[in-house]
Amino acid sequence: MRYMLLAALLSIAAGAAGAQDADRGADAFADHCAVCHGETAMGDGPMVPVLTVAPSDLTSLAAGNDGVFPTARVVRRIDGREEVMAHGGPMPLFGDILGGASGVIDAPDGSPVFTTEEIVDITAWLQAIQVE
Ligand code: HEC
Repeated sequence: MRYMLLAALLSIAAGAAGAQDADRGADAFADHCAVCHGETAMGDGPMVPVLTVAPSDLTSLAAGNDGVFPTARVVRRIDGREEVMAHGGPMPLFGDILGGASGVIDAPDGSPVFTTEEIVDITAWLQAIQVE
C-alpha cells in the first residue's frame, strides 16, 4: 500500500515537471529572444538598431487584444506556423526550441494549443508579464 502511494506521488511529481513553467520560460526567453525583444520583452533589445521592423512589445499582447492574451497566435508566431520574417522565415532562428518534447498550453477559452514544452514555458512567462 505504501509503495502504491509512493508511486502515485511520483507520477504526480512527474506530471508537474511536464507542466508549464514560467520561470524556465523566462530563462529561455533571455537566451533566444531578448536580443531583439529586450530582457523585459518590451521591444528594446540590443539588435533593434539593425532591424528594419521593430520587435513587438510582448508585454502588451493582451492589452492589444481586448484584454485577452492571444495564446494561439503567440504560440504560432513563435513556433513558425504563422510566419514572422524577423524570426527567420522558413529557416527559424531558434530551431532548438522547436525540437524537444511536445507540450500543450490552454488558451483563455480553454482550448488546447499544441507546440513544444519550451514554447509552452515561454508563452506562460509572456502571459504572466502582460500589463493592463
Ligand atoms: C532577430 C530578432 C528577433 C528575435 C531573436 C525574436 N524575435 Fe520575435 N519578433 C521580432 C520582430 C521584428 C517582430 C515583429 C514582426 C512583425 O511585426 O512583422 C517579432 C514578433 C514576435 C511576436 C508576434 C507578436 C504579435 O503581435 O503577435 C511574438 C509572439 C514574438 N516575436 C515572440 C518571440 C519569441 C518568444 C522569441 C524567442 C523564442 C522571439 N520572438 C525572437 C524579432 C525577433
